[in-house]
Amino acid sequence: MSGLRILLSEAEIAARVETLAGEIAATLPADFIMVGLLKGAFVFAADLARALDRAGARPEIEFMRLSSYGLAKVSRGEVRLLGDAPSDVEGRNILLIDDIVDTGRSISFAADLLRRRKIGGLWSCALLDKPQRREVEAPIDFVGFRIEDVFVAGYGIDHAEKHRHLPYIAVVD
Ligand code: IMP
Ligand code: MG
Repeated sequence: MSGLRILLSEAEIAARVETLAGEIAATLPADFIMVGLLKGAFVFAADLARALDRAGARPEIEFMRLSSYGLAKVSRGEVRLLGDAPSDVEGRNILLIDDIVDTGRSISFAADLLRRRKIGGLWSCALLDKPQRREVEAPIDFVGFRIEDVFVAGYGIDHAEKHRHLPYIAVVD
């Protein structure tokens, strides 16, 4: 059995999401599309969308699904698109939303894919960043929390499909 140790409480996450939304609303042009990476970013994207509303932004919301770790705790180093990516994005400003940037492969794969569709500006936002684990360059414009090289779950993030429902983020031992 794996144990869970709370790393970020519900209240800590909520406060940080509110601040991030303020920074995003102050930085991005008025017209933009949030593109959340499924499944992990679904809770963060939902909370961020409502915080953006309170900050005065009116984003459109899209998702795309990339391949995942499956049952493993480490990346296989290969990213694939599962299903469709948002289509009518030519000339549009995009804010990519992910749960965690680890090796950097997922978010840079998503960014490259969208850039090929001739989008306007591109920004990226990750709730969690593990800078020690980076293998490919992936500039993140808005980071919720920088964390150590630990494996976490909760708040949309899974370990082998478990724990996504938790309202907080825990370290999985
Ligand atoms: P990257 O492509 O290596 O940057 O990995 C990013 C993705 O891997 C995240 O969006 C998560 O879905 C997953 N991931 C990375 N670290 C963790 C973790 O600690 N727990 C659960 N999933 C993780
Ligand atoms: Mg993910």
